[in-house]
Amino acid sequence: MHKDNQIFIEACFMKPVKRTPIWIMRQAGRYLPEYRNIRSKNSFHEMMHTPDLMAEVTLLPMNRFDLDASIMFSDILVIPESLGMKFELVSKVGPVFKTSISSSGDIEKLNFNHSYFKNIYSGIKIIRNSLDKTKSLIGFAGTPWTTACYMVEGKPSKDYMKIRSLMYNDYESFDLLMRKITDATISYIREQINSGVDAVQIFDSNGVYISKKNFIKYSLPYIKEIINFINSQNIPSIYYAKGLCDSPDLIMQTNSKVLGIDWSVELSKVKSATEGMVALQGNLDPAILLCPNNVIKSQTEKVLQSFGKGSGHIFNLGHGITPNVRPESVEYLIQQVREMSSKNYE
Ligand code: CP3
Repeated sequence: MHKDNQIFIEACFMKPVKRTPIWIMRQAGRYLPEYRNIRSKNSFHEMMHTPDLMAEVTLLPMNRFDLDASIMFSDILVIPESLGMKFELVSKVGPVFKTSISSSGDIEKLNFNHSYFKNIYSGIKIIRNSLDKTKSLIGFAGTPWTTACYMVEGKPSKDYMKIRSLMYNDYESFDLLMRKITDATISYIREQINSGVDAVQIFDSNGVYISKKNFIKYSLPYIKEIINFINSQNIPSIYYAKGLCDSPDLIMQTNSKVLGIDWSVELSKVKSATEGMVALQGNLDPAILLCPNNVIKSQTEKVLQSFGKGSGHIFNLGHGITPNVRPESVEYLIQQVREMSSKNYE
């Protein structure tokens, strides 16, 4: 066993375990009434940057459910903020930046301010001290591609065309932007690890907006640099690849120890294509949590059977949990994974 018998870390390193560990992407979010209550009294930014509040929100799902890992409460868009671009959460729209990137001059002006993260690091220390030693704390960041999509567009978009046109039209500026995000992200992750996170997940939620061919030249090199850094710290790296999971050969090239699999593919196919070289995390369709318990049970069993026997599976959804899920359904899911998964390890 690695430190403190954390089943989540064991599974990430494909070590023998007795059951499949589980956590849920976006587990500290709006589907929880206690989250909505705190949120009604505080802004999203106050919740991210007040260490006690950040810790409290992170631990909400841990207090309510028997999860194996906790993900720090924050957002991937803290990286643009540390580079000088501020956003606001606009109801029914999502994060909207005060100004977006529209010229090479805007990219040159981006200036990393590491002290922007100081309250986040204090929050991590509080969480790690309060969390049961057998539970893991996951730190995270976005990939440079996914983060840059938001910086260039300035807000959520249905197609993220602006970043692709920058990529084709002005590679030099595109590369400078990606370099600045990559360097800031590595500094940020280094200090997350020093503050106590046990693993780091890199979210490529916008991986679906780049072609497979372009991924190799325009996104992979920066991701690989970040993943190689995490690996050098001897903690698990997790690469969540939305929209790229039907190309396991491609996402394997990130060198990530764990691949986070979206809900569009069969785990069995990814498992045979990766030949047991990496652990897999996922991949229940988040829509299943809106169904009655009998459907949750049968679909959960399908995911467990699709991975099949052996170590190296971490149960999760194939994307984040949505605000309309009943907490009781989450409780039921966790209970089912605990009960049904043990037969995969007999
Ligand atoms: O998993 C967790 O519990 C940790 C918290 C977490 C948040 N954002 C909190 C949040 C994590 C891991 C993220 C990552 C994130 N942020 C991603 C990648 C993961 C994914 O789901 O694809 C992305 C693309 C973002 C950017 C972002 N932040 C968007 C698009 C939005 C608005 C849409 C939405 O889901 O609400 C946010 C805001 C946000 N981040 C909220 C939370 C709880 C909602 C805040 C609120 O209104 O109270």
